[in-house]
Amino acid sequence: MVKVITYGTFDMLHYGHIRLLERAKALGDYLIVGVTSDDYDKARGKINVKQPLIERIEAVKQLKIADEIIIEEYEGQKIDDILKYDIDVFTVGTDWVGQFDYLNRYCKVVYLERTEGVSSSGLRSEQHKVKIGIVGGFETRALRKYYNECNYVNGIQFVGICAEHGLNEPYFNEENMFVTSDFNEFLKRCDGIYILSHPTEHYTQIRTALENNVHILCESPVVLDEKQYAELRAMAEKKHLILMESIKTAYSTAYRRLLLLAGSNKIGDIISVDATCTSIQDIGNIDYSWNSICSWGPTALLPVFQILGTDYKEMSIASRLYDKYFDLFTRISFLYPNGVAEVKVGRGVKSEGELVISGTKGYMYVPAPWWKTEYFEIRYENASDNRRYFYQLEGEGIRYELVRFIRAIAENKEDTSINTKITTAICKVMRTFYEMNDVKII
Ligand code: CTP
Repeated sequence: MVKVITYGTFDMLHYGHIRLLERAKALGDYLIVGVTSDDYDKARGKINVKQPLIERIEAVKQLKIADEIIIEEYEGQKIDDILKYDIDVFTVGTDWVGQFDYLNRYCKVVYLERTEGVSSSGLRSEQHKVKIGIVGGFETRALRKYYNECNYVNGIQFVGICAEHGLNEPYFNEENMFVTSDFNEFLKRCDGIYILSHPTEHYTQIRTALENNVHILCESPVVLDEKQYAELRAMAEKKHLILMESIKTAYSTAYRRLLLLAGSNKIGDIISVDATCTSIQDIGNIDYSWNSICSWGPTALLPVFQILGTDYKEMSIASRLYDKYFDLFTRISFLYPNGVAEVKVGRGVKSEGELVISGTKGYMYVPAPWWKTEYFEIRYENASDNRRYFYQLEGEGIRYELVRFIRAIAENKEDTSINTKITTAICKVMRTFYEMNDVKII
């Protein structure tokens, strides 16, 4: 009996897939189809896949061409499978020509002519595109990153940039892009906006966008007062619009897995969370520049609130100021009924940007810069029990964040990566800082 194997994602199953499977089957007597797992696709940079694994398997199964379906979960698995299933022929489409020649050592490799004119990516991008614009002109590094990442996400049609106070970035002029300072006009062109303007402008911009039926992904802090946030949230819900908080770390695979492991009793009861985020950057125009607590506070507060919750008993803030509301460095300490946390952020002070989560059985350690990590460790008293975890990070988490924003809009359902309680708690910390009554100046 000649055994044949082929692999694919088989997202939104189409005619090209069916033809490939039929011809693959005709190469032998028994066909095994390997369908890629969601995790494996993500790890190899395929982040736009529409259907979950179970649906993709079901679609292949319904064709009744495959004799057996398996899941492809890791790099190098093809060799394992060929040996394990005693495969005679490995086949894929000609889009892969040459790339699997190394399998010739184990079985015959056949590249089948790819069907012209149809692909999953094509089908995905034919679906209604969401028109996305960016608001803000001064945080130029982030502006560039978000613009670039938009190109990786199927389903986004990039509109342009609204820079009410001018655009401090020649790069975009070279790109010949639509740039305006008229926010209301801009909103008419957009289904959704990503707000990156100064935090003091967010409230008015979010309100106006909601009034104009535009979905929002807003760089955290969303607003500087939790009551304002409650008002905007109610407004978004009433109008069935998405109001999503942007903290790119929250959407990265390594960070999400870290949270799951932290919640799985791997290090016992969690007693303390310590997060530090710093970067020494030019302050530039003080009116539009983000202070330390806004630049880094939300990211550093995220693991504290996501792991220990938002019901702390006490919070104390200490800052070194450069200007009235511009902190060069801030430390925020929390006292919880059963734990403590400390957050250190700075745009004018440099420190080790690590995250340490301490528990009764061990601790989790994420090396600097932890907020864009691909790697972390769980460490124990007995070092031979230590475990290392690695996850591929594409686009610092921005890409995943944009995918989730687009999905939230399409499904009209808020993404739950950062829930309302957490956003509210972050806004409350910001209000406490800006009121300055309880801030100790160092
Ligand atoms: N395939 C094909 N003809 C097409 C599309 C896919 O023969 N028009 C083959 C691929 O070469 C591969 C298998 O079908 O052997 C599964 O491909 P997959 O990557 O799942 O499908 P694509 O449509 O190529 O997906 P994408 O656009 O996301 O790359």
